[in-house]
Amino acid sequence: MNGVGMGSREASLNARESLASWQWLREHAGQMKSVHLAKLFEDDSKRFNRLSIELPGLLFDYSKNRINEDTLSGLMRLAREAGVEAWREKMFSGERINITEDRAVLHTALRDLSGDTTLVDGDNISEQVQGELARIKALCERVRSGSWKGFSGKAITDVVSIGVGGSNLGPKMVTEALKGSGNQQIKVHYVSNVDGVQISEILRGLNPEQVLFVVSSKTFTTQETMTNARTALNWLKAYSFDTDAAAKHFVAVTANTEKAEEFGILAENIYSMWDWVGGRFSLWSAIGLPIALSLGFDEFSELLRGAYEMDCHFREAPLEQNAPVLLALLSIWNTTFMGCQAQAILPYDQSLHVFSAYMQQAEMESNGKSVNRFGEEVDYQTVPLIWGQLGIDGQHAFYQYLHQGKSIVPADFIGSLEGLTSLQDQHEILLSNLFAQTRALMLGVDEETVREELAARGKTAIEIDSLVAHKVHKGNRPTNTLLVDKICARSLGRLIALYEHKVFVQGIVLNICSFDQWGVELGKKLATSVYSALVNDEVDESLDSSTASLIKYYKDSKEAAS
Ligand code: F6P
Repeated sequence: MNGVGMGSREASLNARESLASWQWLREHAGQMKSVHLAKLFEDDSKRFNRLSIELPGLLFDYSKNRINEDTLSGLMRLAREAGVEAWREKMFSGERINITEDRAVLHTALRDLSGDTTLVDGDNISEQVQGELARIKALCERVRSGSWKGFSGKAITDVVSIGVGGSNLGPKMVTEALKGSGNQQIKVHYVSNVDGVQISEILRGLNPEQVLFVVSSKTFTTQETMTNARTALNWLKAYSFDTDAAAKHFVAVTANTEKAEEFGILAENIYSMWDWVGGRFSLWSAIGLPIALSLGFDEFSELLRGAYEMDCHFREAPLEQNAPVLLALLSIWNTTFMGCQAQAILPYDQSLHVFSAYMQQAEMESNGKSVNRFGEEVDYQTVPLIWGQLGIDGQHAFYQYLHQGKSIVPADFIGSLEGLTSLQDQHEILLSNLFAQTRALMLGVDEETVREELAARGKTAIEIDSLVAHKVHKGNRPTNTLLVDKICARSLGRLIALYEHKVFVQGIVLNICSFDQWGVELGKKLATSVYSALVNDEVDESLDSSTASLIKYYKDSKEAAS
């Protein structure tokens, strides 16, 4: 561990619970639990004005949170005591803040349009980034213009992107969001699941002569990705009878060039990833190649521009006016101090239908941890369980739980002012639902109102008594509303970067290492040994009785079927 890690004396001095602001917020949360949001709005007609901020192309309304001015001041004190400003600079300037992997965290350098130079170990990474962007641009031009030819001399019509986790979710989320922009020239298909159904279904509809596979894997060792890549290669060879097919139909994005070459991909078709880019923050690198291939390099550049704009805001705006900082502190307030265990992300824009899944990885893989930076178990809730889907579909599925469930689930509602179609009326119905839901969650319906409504509908006193408890909504359920002008590459870039920086600030304030993911390694490791027991004759005596019996059950059924 380098200088950013610390010894135990310093650790205890830095323990979050010992910060004055932390202790104050704990006590204050106790008081705020008995305050109803409806009352806060009733008492202050200017609440929205004070508790919302407007950035170019984005309105962030956080007034429907169980907070007052004191809460905000306390949270700002916490951010300062936790050193958010200093850590932010460490990240942007390339310090090795990913301490458990001893790496810099520089996804911001991938979209830095300032012209400044960033160095990592003396290497000019700004130059490397520009070089790689030029290569991406050149590839886009070749493929989109039809001058890249497959084994039979035909142009490429479809890209199949093979990757998983951070090497899949970001590009998939973005291409899904922007496919209506009219720039989609090449169709992109995403394969992430090792379940053969997914790749089989995709390949079935494609002409092998006109497919380009993009194998995206930082490590180039991920079992699911490499298995799918081999399946794709075999499929291609079966049609092409060309041992050189990989050269004409495969490109790779990886930090492990050697492995990609071993696979048969030409060095000139390998695009770089760097160890200072975490998988879940990598869509701005060549991992975003499927986005650029499908929508064009100009759209990809706009995405980077939007993210850069948010980087500048995050780096320069005072904490009180800083959207990612506010978003992070509110999440910490709701979770760590007010005791909520989950948080929903609810887009009211069809184009964002993969956004919640994307955010799930960004936040939970980053901050779903229970030890602090010094390796000590923390006794506070770190991040909530992140979940969600399109708001309208959710309304008819799980919103019952949000309105009347036993636990409070704070939610981010995301919408856009302008829809992507000419069906203006439908867009207005969509937005009305968004606004109505946050109002309903905040306000609720009290017993008196329920009784009045039922009486007005002619119900008897007995009927009213039996129904009333079922119809009461306690309300007081916090929400954020984020409104972008319109979903386009630039606004999407801003939105994603907003959440990326939220995740960063959360990690700093909660004092955890946001940029590793050791928790996913154990499962990967065990899957390898279980696979070997599953397909070989060997019996692993060290396995527990459940796992051993499941493997035996599978083998017996396979034998019986053969
Ligand atoms: O899911 C765990 C993980 O390590 C992610 O962090 C990463 O994005 C994903 O696997 C894929 O890894 P790779 O890009 O190396 O194939």
